[in-house]
Amino acid sequence: MRNGGNILIAANWKMNILPSESRTLAIACTDLEWSGQLEVLICPPYTHLQNMKSLQLDGIKLGAQNCSEHKKGAYTGEVSAAMLVDLQCEYVILGHSECRDNNPNENARICAKINAAVSSGLKVIYCCGEPQEFRNSGKEFDFIKRQLKADLFDLNKDALSSINIAYEPVWAIGSGNQANQQQIIAMHGFIQNEIKNHFSLAENQNMRILYGGSVNAGNVHSYANLPEVDGVLVGGASLIPKEFKAIINAFNRKLK
Ligand code: PGA
Repeated sequence: MRNGGNILIAANWKMNILPSESRTLAIACTDLEWSGQLEVLICPPYTHLQNMKSLQLDGIKLGAQNCSEHKKGAYTGEVSAAMLVDLQCEYVILGHSECRDNNPNENARICAKINAAVSSGLKVIYCCGEPQEFRNSGKEFDFIKRQLKADLFDLNKDALSSINIAYEPVWAIGSGNQANQQQIIAMHGFIQNEIKNHFSLAENQNMRILYGGSVNAGNVHSYANLPEVDGVLVGGASLIPKEFKAIINAFNRKLK
């Protein structure tokens, strides 16, 4: 299931940077060389995609931060998966906790959104993660199991080859409180097992699982060395070229 065993470093720009500023940031973040086994992806706001597409940055993949579950039609304010493909997006982030929190119906739409994205040819970065209170009460595994069941378990098994999972504990996002190695090893292993058991996958059919939540140049080494971590989804630090390049370099060294 893992896409060729590659590492994925994904930048989630969230609602930052003006379209006119995206060129400078993208170029500054990426004037490096990296191993062919490493995928570097930028997910800017929708409004930046046309600009970013025309830049044709060498080796940089383009993704979006959400999409509609509908193909087309009277859905004011929505953006379809086919529109993203037309703008040369290869990936879309779905299920980010900020989308879940800001849109009351988002949770119920994730599975349909994944189906729409995959059937249009996009790869998905599916986000899951427990809020602080579930971690505090030792119920983080129950919470993640419920999310996986609601969002993934009704998918056709074939869709799994287009899905990457990002474990992003809500308490770690934008807080400076990153998860520690033990927490990540335990949760990534749990997620692999849940998916393997549900879809009856072989032992060596691993999903690609990224970690996200306050990853920066200072802490990336503790994740880059873990075999359970197949990459990172980076928010705040992806807006600072020096930080983002150090994150790419940390994984690049792992591949050498
Ligand atoms: P952060 O965001 O790196 O700023 O914590 C990660 C994310 O929300 O994807």
